[in-house]
Amino acid sequence: MSNLALPPVAGQPRGRYNQRLGPEQEKRMAIERTLSIVKPDATRRNLTGAINDRFERRGLRIIAQKRIQLSPAQAGAFYEVHTGRPFYQSLITFMSSGPIIVQVLEGEDAVTLNREIIGATDPAKATAGTIRSDFAESIEANSVHGSDSSENAAQEIAFFFSAIEICP
Ligand code: CMP
Repeated sequence: MSNLALPPVAGQPRGRYNQRLGPEQEKRMAIERTLSIVKPDATRRNLTGAINDRFERRGLRIIAQKRIQLSPAQAGAFYEVHTGRPFYQSLITFMSSGPIIVQVLEGEDAVTLNREIIGATDPAKATAGTIRSDFAESIEANSVHGSDSSENAAQEIAFFFSAIEICP
């Protein structure tokens, strides 16, 4: 029996998260975690399942997930690094405009792999077949967020999740 939960997709590598590896091999494979957000434009259009399918088919495991609505203050705190940028206020309004799905993704090189799957911030510049190319409405309503480094991933995961909510 195959050890992959999902069938391979044409043109894409097989799932990278191999449950049959021993602990020594797993250590060498740099299993990482990253923070992902399905944004209000995507939850409004009922795209959560379609987006999660992209992650799972590429071998990322959703080890924590919850649906919440941020207050403007919470959205501002999460995106504090963008304070002063011209899009900051509008981003806060957008990110608090409806439900979001916050999730922790785990897998080999999860930070880089996730950013490859979601594509460039601006959907007009995103590679064909990425989530943002296929689903995003604009550079702001770009359907998903993904941590840009493992250091930021750890901070962003801690922003939304306690240890007991993460179930690898
Ligand atoms: P995200 O990857 O979540 O990081 C910051 C967000 O700000 C970005 O996705 C977009 O939703 C939003 N944004 C709006 N305008 C811009 C812009 N010009 N450059 C970068 N991010 C932008």
